[in-house]
Amino acid sequence: MTNADSSERAAPRSGGLRHDSVPMRLYHEAKDRGAWDPRQLGLREDARDWSRLSVTERDVLLRLTGLFKVAEESMTRDLLPFLMIVLRENRPEEELFLTTFLSDEAKHTEFFQLVLDDIYGHSGDLLRYQTASFRKFFAEKLPTAMKALLADASPVAQAEALVTYTLVGEGVLGEAGYHVFTTALEGAGLMPRFREGLRLAQADEERHMAYGAFVLSRLVAQDPEVWAVISARLDQLVPDTLGVVTEFFQPYDAMPFGLSLEATIEYTMARFADRWTELEKARERGRGRPVTSGREEAVRLVLAWVRERAVPAPVEVHREGADPVYTFRVGAEEASALLITQEVLDGHAPGDIVAALASHRVPERLRERPHQRVICLQVGDQIVVQGPPG
Ligand SMILES: [Fe+2]
Ligand SMILES: [Fe+2]
Repeated sequence: MTNADSSERAAPRSGGLRHDSVPMRLYHEAKDRGAWDPRQLGLREDARDWSRLSVTERDVLLRLTGLFKVAEESMTRDLLPFLMIVLRENRPEEELFLTTFLSDEAKHTEFFQLVLDDIYGHSGDLLRYQTASFRKFFAEKLPTAMKALLADASPVAQAEALVTYTLVGEGVLGEAGYHVFTTALEGAGLMPRFREGLRLAQADEERHMAYGAFVLSRLVAQDPEVWAVISARLDQLVPDTLGVVTEFFQPYDAMPFGLSLEATIEYTMARFADRWTELEKARERGRGRPVTSGREEAVRLVLAWVRERAVPAPVEVHREGADPVYTFRVGAEEASALLITQEVLDGHAPGDIVAALASHRVPERLRERPHQRVICLQVGDQIVVQGPPG
């Protein structure tokens, strides 16, 4: 659809609603399980736990809650252009589901604001917690991709918007955030009412992501060009996403609650891998073919991670013909190299490969010293990293 015809609406569809369709099933589920009220959680009761926390513990929770509040606000606002195109294209089942989606996002905004008000008693400005990568995603990339739909509602534009919104915003960044909350609060049994709200919000997000995957699969089936767009968009967003996670941890010498940057990065990469696998499965189902190996996906995720860690050194990956080794070149001149065997890429989750490389500070070492070679191979079931001592 182009600018010229974007204001036109498709002719109304005759017949009733398709209750067995994915959006209608999600709609019914939303009425049933999504009907919760942040005001009824009794969040004030959790203020006692809050008052016992250390200064750093409070700072970490305040930072994450403040970021969630801003993110949910963006998610509420930025969904509207997508709703407009669903309306224009006359997809009534999706219209119904999207009313619950929008109301969920509004409720999440309210929930995180209530946590700030009723548990933390915080009334100050949280702007300082928004790092460069966070702002880049929520103030630039996300609204730009969503607003673009108002001028161009082509399958490619819809795919770009949904990859940004559901796959990365909700599916990777959101899940990484929930993971940090859970790690911090669950282990110590802190703030049970807050945790209940997080559990309910996360269940809402599951529906949103299921819907996102449903639409993306349909777009891929409709237009073969869409797949390359999704793939490029995901690649482009990995570094920003890892930036958000890394910058979250940066201000702290030691993280409280047993949190660690490595574990969170590992978790985030695993979520990327999950989202990617789901899409690949949907594509293969559409083609009626078996699912291909996850090697391509492992290479792209490891590459994105090495790039993020090796900044400002450029990183490229190549493979000679059918060579069973992938070479990641770090640096322009006098480059160093990381060699990863095909066996490792085929047999291990990207998150595990990244964890093994992270524990040896591989990207940093290769960036710092020229002409180094580090080899990552499989011995028995284990990933082994060999190279000059760090
Ligand atoms: Fe949300
Ligand atoms: Fe959501």
